Amino acid sequence: MPIQANVDLHHFNTFHVSARSRWFAEVATVEALREVLAWHKGKDIPLMLLGQGSNILFRENYPGLIIELAIKGITVQQSTESSVLVQAMGGEIWHPFVTHCLKQGWYGLENLSLIPGTVGAAPVQNIGAYGVELKDLLHEVQALEIASGNMKTFTNDDCGFSYRSSVFKEDLREQYIITDVTFSLSSKPRLNLEYPALQQALSDVPRESITPQLVSDKVCEIRRSKLPDPDMLGNAGSFFWNPRIGQDRFAELKALYPDLPGYAEGNSVKIPAAWLIEKAGWKGYRDGDVGVHERHALVLVNHGGATGAELVALSERIQASVAEKFGIQLWPEVRIV
Ligand code: EPU
Repeated sequence: MPIQANVDLHHFNTFHVSARSRWFAEVATVEALREVLAWHKGKDIPLMLLGQGSNILFRENYPGLIIELAIKGITVQQSTESSVLVQAMGGEIWHPFVTHCLKQGWYGLENLSLIPGTVGAAPVQNIGAYGVELKDLLHEVQALEIASGNMKTFTNDDCGFSYRSSVFKEDLREQYIITDVTFSLSSKPRLNLEYPALQQALSDVPRESITPQLVSDKVCEIRRSKLPDPDMLGNAGSFFWNPRIGQDRFAELKALYPDLPGYAEGNSVKIPAAWLIEKAGWKGYRDGDVGVHERHALVLVNHGGATGAELVALSERIQASVAEKFGIQLWPEVRIV
């Protein structure tokens, strides 16, 4: 069984910080996954699943076993004239999967183009971008229960999705390993063009000429224009959640800062954390090899040799500064280990 000791995680996290895992195994089948779990059983060490490491920050060496899920495969489960159920294994890389679906004429994922990470990691944090969330297209998830080794099917409802979260990040945290995800896609284009930046990017294209492929191209263009490519500059996308505040508090802040953006959500208002961080003066900040991206204030970056601890320290300084200036607490969206 291929379990390696003391493995450098530099290539297994998109921040590209150096940290070592005491044990590490890459698994390409459910059977291999079961074997590795059997090896782990009874050992008093922590266990962690990793996809592409695009939402994680290693603050220090990892004292347990990391399993890199590399199970591949895409199959059509069912198709009708207007819809298709597509199953993708957890180790498929997200963006090539989206591209594959578009080429086959399976639509719905185009707004989620270019998100880093794997298919198996996508439901955990209910990935979302440009007006679409994974939960809008997910049919079901199959996952292996670590304690029993049994497979369980989770319907969309069972997944308990919310903004950047799910039952796999909350009540069932670290209890299941997602092996595959089935998506409910459409064979007829069903475009979602609500997100302002997307609308703007498509403003000079007549509505009837907008195809899912064009939406995907535009989303890629917008992302590339402001989010750094992790292969060029280490980062994990948005570092913090966008905070929600009460309407009264929003009105008070709006009186002080008339350009404060806010999106009503029920009784609260969601504010872009990027705006708060930029207003607090951090955009483009750099200290040694840690910094805040110059084109997007919500993205912390590793300019080369930063350590996880240095990035965490910077994130804490940003939290303190935003709390002091606006009285709003920011919480990391990135998982800090
Ligand atoms: N803004 C600033 N300064 C900046 C950048 C943005 O003030 O440097 C303000 C602007 O007012 C802008 C607003 O923030 O209109 C929103 O910015 P953007 O459209 O880039 O979205 P976001 O809220 O920062 C969220 C997701 C992203 C996702 C985009 C697009 C979270 C935590 N992040 O970012 O997801 O791509 O919307 O839908 O919800 C990720 O999770 O890693 C991620 C990149």
